[in-house]
Amino acid sequence: MTLFTCRFDAVIHFAGLKAVGESVRKPLLYFDNNLIGTIILFQVMAAHGCKKLVFSSSATVYGWPKEVPCTEEFPLSVTNPYGRTKLIIEEICRDLYCSDSDWKIILLRYFNPVGAHPSGSIGEDPRGIPNNLMPFVQQVAVGRLTSLTIFGNDYKTSDGTGIRDYIHVLDLAEGHIAALRKLDDAKIGCEVYNLGTGKGTSVLEMVKAFEQASGKKIPLAMGGRRPGDAEIVYASTKKAERELNWKAKHGIDDMCRDQWNWASKNPYGYGRSGDSSN
Ligand code: WQD
Repeated sequence: MTLFTCRFDAVIHFAGLKAVGESVRKPLLYFDNNLIGTIILFQVMAAHGCKKLVFSSSATVYGWPKEVPCTEEFPLSVTNPYGRTKLIIEEICRDLYCSDSDWKIILLRYFNPVGAHPSGSIGEDPRGIPNNLMPFVQQVAVGRLTSLTIFGNDYKTSDGTGIRDYIHVLDLAEGHIAALRKLDDAKIGCEVYNLGTGKGTSVLEMVKAFEQASGKKIPLAMGGRRPGDAEIVYASTKKAERELNWKAKHGIDDMCRDQWNWASKNPYGYGRSGDSSN
């Protein structure tokens, strides 16, 4: 019997549980899955001589930034177990590189990924009630949920709602390709880059853009602030533009157009049509 051995050039690690609220309720589940899973992955990589890594980190490591835009040099502070796993894995990566400079590691801090593949055949399909804004809005638009609760409209922003840096998943994917290419740069050790657009958009602005893209009205209810939420978070992307030769190309309207294209064709995600068990 011929045993095939294949060699991996690099690993892109985006596996992990990512619901902030769930992580507060079930911290051990998040530490076991996200941290132990990552340590085992790194051990297997090292055992097979694969020391090139792109890791999916998150803007959540900035906590509630004192100013914006966030640069990669900002102080890091986390407010929930999910964010803590991201920060701990970043520190593991830095320690790994310090112990063995053969490792080449790029940490990508995602801001708020939204949208879907323009084909309408690949998109986000969270299990249960969505934690994040845009999958929730999407399920209201297709009639799976009745209304969106706005978590706080008393922030010091133009319309009182929270501001985030939403980035199209296509731009996010391009950022990973650019990071993989960068791993061939001999000077790379363990580097971190923001993946955002550099623009802030409020909750109400996102809802309006999705209504325009979908032609659907999103009923709203005003609720209190969500514990742990920051007021305004958006990225400085100068470092990624300079060193990865990467810049986001898609705007909010593209994100909403592609997300609605996916949702209108797949109202129950990858489940059966009308199947509300997902
Ligand atoms: C966005 C805005 C809410 C839901 C988290 C993680 C981050 C990343 C993305 C993985 C906020 C408001 C939301 C709702 C609302 N995770 N909102 N009603 O919290 O910025 O980031 O998810 O990649 O690491 O921290 O994203 O989409 O939950 O919230 O008003 O039903 O929408 O208050 O202002 P968040 P979000």
